[in-house]
Amino acid sequence: MNAAWLDLGSTGEFAADRHAVVLAGDKRLVVVNLAGEFTVFPDFCTHDYTSFESGKLQDGSLVCPRHGGRFCARTGQARKAPPRHPLPAFEVRLADGRLFARPATS
Ligand code: FES
Repeated sequence: MNAAWLDLGSTGEFAADRHAVVLAGDKRLVVVNLAGEFTVFPDFCTHDYTSFESGKLQDGSLVCPRHGGRFCARTGQARKAPPRHPLPAFEVRLADGRLFARPATS
């Protein structure tokens, strides 16, 4: 069974080419807005569980503030060590100007 969709807020709250950390239910998520294309991941680096809040979005990568590991901001794939594992994927949908996400099932 699919998880429920989480309402992450109005799309206007997420500035273009930036990332932002949001709380949704019991989940802490990082939202990436790449020129209007939204992706969502859990807000923890797979290297050592650091939040991306003080990290940066650079050249299409989400950069971890702790050791500089990089993840593809579109797919979550690890691009630069030390992380070796991807960020878990979330499905995303837009409805009525709001952004929704839920953990991907596959
Ligand atoms: S905790 Fe993110 S790169 Fe180490």
